[in-house]
Amino acid sequence: MTTEHTRVAIVGAGPAGLVLSHLLAQAGVESIVLDQRSREDIEGTIRAGIVEHGAAELLAGIGDTSRIYTAGHRHDGIELHFPAPDGGTEAHRIDFPGLTGRSVWLYPQHEVLIDLIAARLADGQDLRFSTTVDRVEGVESDRPRIFGTGADGQPFEIEAEFVVGADGSHSVVRPAVTGPSRAGGYFREYPFAWFGILCEAPPSAPELIYSNSADGFALISQRSDTVQRMYFQCDPEADADALSDAQIWDILQKRTPGTELNEGPIFQRDVLRFRSFVSHELRHGRAALVGDAAHTVPPTGAKGMNLAIGDVILLDQALQELLLRGSERGLDAYAAEASKRIWKSQHFSWWMTSMLHLQPEANEFDRLRQLGELRSVVESEAGRKYLAEAYTGWPYATSL
Ligand code: DHB
Repeated sequence: MTTEHTRVAIVGAGPAGLVLSHLLAQAGVESIVLDQRSREDIEGTIRAGIVEHGAAELLAGIGDTSRIYTAGHRHDGIELHFPAPDGGTEAHRIDFPGLTGRSVWLYPQHEVLIDLIAARLADGQDLRFSTTVDRVEGVESDRPRIFGTGADGQPFEIEAEFVVGADGSHSVVRPAVTGPSRAGGYFREYPFAWFGILCEAPPSAPELIYSNSADGFALISQRSDTVQRMYFQCDPEADADALSDAQIWDILQKRTPGTELNEGPIFQRDVLRFRSFVSHELRHGRAALVGDAAHTVPPTGAKGMNLAIGDVILLDQALQELLLRGSERGLDAYAAEASKRIWKSQHFSWWMTSMLHLQPEANEFDRLRQLGELRSVVESEAGRKYLAEAYTGWPYATSL
């Protein structure tokens, strides 16, 4: 087996790995991106759809292939719905441009990936699908190595100057960063999950509705003019096939009182489990973690992909310092700097989740307090502004 060489070996061809390879290439730093999934699998897996203002700007500038501003939809606000004291429903709009001067883009992650893969291939990026990485060695030296099996079934070995784990929550790079005895991180589970559907019907409302109802949470989102994405709070052990379409519509309609949902054939259903996780370590020697390999957030507020891009912007600067100017200063600063946005996003995702979902253990006091919290947000300009700033995204770092 021959050993290949590259400057940066990036494990994972999701948004984090692909954006990093782009930023490095722009600075003249060569990389190889490896992913165990096939291109079809990556481009076909449906994920969340909200892109922050700054992430949209960055993605729109990558290659000639970005369709975010043409195929995506700009959203200037969301609606928060919750029970009124008189038994009705209150609906409050959070006006993003009015509060922050920014908006978000509804553009599903798999569309982002289709654009990014096309752009990276057009740029000549060495991008290898169906390639499994088994282990990473030597991260304490200046020539770490990765070992795995290529798409042809043959073993391979790559020697790099730096290894990046952009390989999601089951990262194979993470043990090389955290060390086997320090594996794991800061962790929280939630007593609920989301039951998600895709259906053929036009949007039920112009903007997304986050509904805290007496029966539990529901989110009415969209994918296009003809497809809607909707979620409702369910038991984490729920079986996605156990409910009939009629039962699903019944639950969704009940949880969005005052809104008439457009129903249509349901063509996909899934149960999404909730976790909050931050790895104890984000970098060790010549390896670092970005995106879901470093942390996961519950989906409420759609921070996952946007946060991954925040990590990558910082790591790109640190790697440029190391590989173009021979300084480890940026790398030494990476974990502390990245953790600022990571923990703000963890807080926001946890806060939106806890404010909007029915806690199974909640008593009447807890429930009324939660409605008081929602009212504190919607009736205060400062409260609405905090939500809008976080949802549309804090500005990305410009220096490390
Ligand atoms: C979607 C997902 C989210 O988690 C969210 O907060 C908003 C929208 C979506 O999949 O459309």
